[in-house]
Amino acid sequence: MIARGAMLGPDQPVIIHMLDIEPAMEALRGLKMELLDAALPLVQGVFVSTNVVEACKGVDIAVMLGGFPRKEGMERRDVISKNVSIYRAQASALQQYAAPNCKVLVVANPANTNALILKEVSSLPAKNITSLTRLDQNRAQALISDRLDVPVTDVKNVIVWGNHSSTQYPDVNHATVNTANGHRPVRELIADDYWLNREFITTVQQRGAAIIKARKLSSALSAASAACDHIRDWVHGTPKGTWVSMGVCSDGSYGVPPGLIYSFPVTCHKGEWSIVQGLKIDEFSRKKMDASVEELTGEKALAYSYLDP
Ligand SMILES: NC(=O)c1ccc[n+]([C@@H]2O[C@H](COP(=O)([O-])OP(=O)(O)OC[C@H]3O[C@@H](n4cnc5c(N)ncnc54)[C@H](O)[C@@H]3O)[C@@H](O)[C@H]2O)c1
Repeated sequence: MIARGAMLGPDQPVIIHMLDIEPAMEALRGLKMELLDAALPLVQGVFVSTNVVEACKGVDIAVMLGGFPRKEGMERRDVISKNVSIYRAQASALQQYAAPNCKVLVVANPANTNALILKEVSSLPAKNITSLTRLDQNRAQALISDRLDVPVTDVKNVIVWGNHSSTQYPDVNHATVNTANGHRPVRELIADDYWLNREFITTVQQRGAAIIKARKLSSALSAASAACDHIRDWVHGTPKGTWVSMGVCSDGSYGVPPGLIYSFPVTCHKGEWSIVQGLKIDEFSRKKMDASVEELTGEKALAYSYLDP
């Protein structure tokens, strides 16, 4: 997708650096051969390495896919402790060798907390560190489009608040659909609060698990597509009147403790994101948003317990 311009546009040549660990190197070399064999006009170079310093040299955009996966029987704390050491090494390489204004998107789970670790252990500017919740937003948008039988592009401003986990809160209170009579609220068009407040939310929250159950692997195509959407909007800007969800460093907006990496609705302009302000939050939403704050605060405490003083 990157090589075909889905991330940075059809006119932006790319040099792709790929980092993996030694056991994956042979497969990575194969992938490099394929990328070259596709003779893609935008690809100006493909570089593969197991050395994090070499891989980070000069990169403008870093998409962090590598992490220690949660295996059967593993506790959340075990995953976080392994990721603290991985992200510490990657943070150090990024801060020393990447381009000065490198934009970072963390995809690997626990994505929000891996991004938090990157922020805490490096001098990378917090504004340049984000985590992926665009996949959750896309899933929510697709569900609404399916329910109303309208094109997915006509559904706007669905929000995903919080953690990329089952405590995330997909919120349609401010979402609209473009109709022949202008933009109309999703709640009014669906007119089924029971579905919107229950099945819709749990379907989005559990979609990742449903994909793993069906494929025996986590989402790949949709995650890659969402990562491209995330970076494209961050770099090129969000269309006027539209916002997107990104895991970003909280500044205290909407009562989310400052410093947490929390998914907010943001608009992007000239390569900078800003949190959409002034949205009315009802009691139902407040509770859901707070549940994700609580989970992220717990993950943060765990991560801190593995960081040096
Ligand atoms: N945020 C989201 O929406 C979202 C969606 C899908 C997947 N994910 C997460 O993204 C990650 C990647 O998913 P996947 O299905 O491609 O997993 P995967 O296990 O197929 O790929 C992970 C890759 O990371 C590599 N890796 C492991 N440790 C590394 C290290 N220290 N340095 C560099 N590379 C390392 C592995 O060798 C492997 O190639 C997982 O953590 C998954 O849970 C997040």
